Amino acid sequence: MKRIPRAIAIVFILLSCCLTLSAQAQNTRISVSAKADNPQISRHIYGHFAEHLGRCIYGGFYVGEDSPIPNSAGVRNDIIAALKDLEIPNLRWPGGCFADTYHWKDGVGPKTERPTIVNTWWGGVTEDNSFGTHEFLNLCEMLETEPYVSGNVGSGTVQELADWVQYTNFDGVSPMSDLRRANGREKPWSVRYWGIGNEAWGCGGNMRPEHYVDVYRKYATFMSNAGVEGGIYKIASGASDADYHWTEVLMRDIPHRMLQAVALHHYSVIDWSNKSSSTDFTEGQYFKTMQKSWLMDELIRKHSDIMDKYDPDGKVDLIVDEWGGWYDVMPDTNPGFLFQQNTMRDAMVAGMVLNVFNNHARRVKMANLAQTVNVLQAVILTDEEKMLLTPTYHVMHMYKVHQDAQLLDVAFDSPVYRQDGEELPALSVSASRNAQGQVNVSLVNIDASQAHKITLDLSGLEVSGLEGRILTSKSLQDHNTFDAPERIKPVPFKAFSLRKGEVSLELPPFSVLVLSEKS
Ligand code: AHR
Repeated sequence: MKRIPRAIAIVFILLSCCLTLSAQAQNTRISVSAKADNPQISRHIYGHFAEHLGRCIYGGFYVGEDSPIPNSAGVRNDIIAALKDLEIPNLRWPGGCFADTYHWKDGVGPKTERPTIVNTWWGGVTEDNSFGTHEFLNLCEMLETEPYVSGNVGSGTVQELADWVQYTNFDGVSPMSDLRRANGREKPWSVRYWGIGNEAWGCGGNMRPEHYVDVYRKYATFMSNAGVEGGIYKIASGASDADYHWTEVLMRDIPHRMLQAVALHHYSVIDWSNKSSSTDFTEGQYFKTMQKSWLMDELIRKHSDIMDKYDPDGKVDLIVDEWGGWYDVMPDTNPGFLFQQNTMRDAMVAGMVLNVFNNHARRVKMANLAQTVNVLQAVILTDEEKMLLTPTYHVMHMYKVHQDAQLLDVAFDSPVYRQDGEELPALSVSASRNAQGQVNVSLVNIDASQAHKITLDLSGLEVSGLEGRILTSKSLQDHNTFDAPERIKPVPFKAFSLRKGEVSLELPPFSVLVLSEKS
């Protein structure tokens, strides 16, 4: 046998020692600091979306006044309680694609006289219009949340939308406010947020942006500001994913005095023709969902760059009014109802994407998770009288501490999570300080098998005590069921030390952690 020269052997031993040490002791240093001009994280980033789709409204929120399920004016009391606890800041309704088929006058007045229609986008089911404008806006009042109404531009008229605004907002004497009073509501609701169409590039009319901008200008012209302090907030139907041309044309051709926000829709879908099961997925499929979720950061940066070009002062907001994971429907359910389960993968989607929104708080002022109950990445699932809170609900609950807090700067080099020769940052982090001065940090480790050691440097923030809550589980596919509704829920996290403003901890694989300064 040939002898290895002594010098080479020593170098080899030293190298392998170093490699072993770095694999064992890999530690990520995350610095959190305050900057005076950092933006506020709008609470509206934690918004929701409820469409007339599948069992979101009917059989979800709304069971009707005669239901044996405890309800208030037909809306389930358990859902009201859960959403109030979540402190949802807004609720978008009635669609989605449904919005551009919806004629609001069908949904007001005595229920027995309301016409039926066919929900052509979602399952071809008959819609009896028993849940309409009054039911929705009264629900928002019960939830103490702001309504966001999507107007029908695709198949409605300018007059119809102008009338709807007058019906909901005008306090004086007018044909529409008189009709509202005749239907039992004296005071207007003062709805601020109005979408001018939905997905105008697709189900909202298959328009080109060059055409839509003129349609927008016309509709916006006739929507009155009366009854809303500061005027109504008009949202242009925005781009799908990386359609940067759409944003460019909107920002260029709609006068900014009539444009408060442009929207963006992006779903974490692996492949539209093969979305895969929501519960039975491989790590490779999980990784792809995470890639699509992380893409949100690039999309927001690039759409924001275009907005910055036309609006350097940041007067027009970016609103991600549809986002979330989208998989195949659960077996034996109506394909048009988009009913899917919600696993730890969805908790990872929510944790990562909400960190992205927080970190882009300068331009992103609202986001709406699709959709609240029984549809897509729902926070609540129901089965007759049973109800459960999904892992996504728990992430939104843990993150509500960021609502309206001031964003803090976060700096770190993330370790990578590798799959099939591709890489993603394993860690995502955002931090804020609320009006009471309390610091909150949300940390996500998407790595499916590797825990990560972290040193969190809070030394510039004078934090004296912290407490934590963590959401994790044994397997990525774990989810809550009606038989085991609390399998996944946040638990206290105490495995950290705080010394001289530095926190040391190990973040388990696929986990979401929120550390909060003790008050
Ligand atoms: O959220 C489901 C659908 O997704 C919405 O109706 C539509 O806007 C989008 O394509």
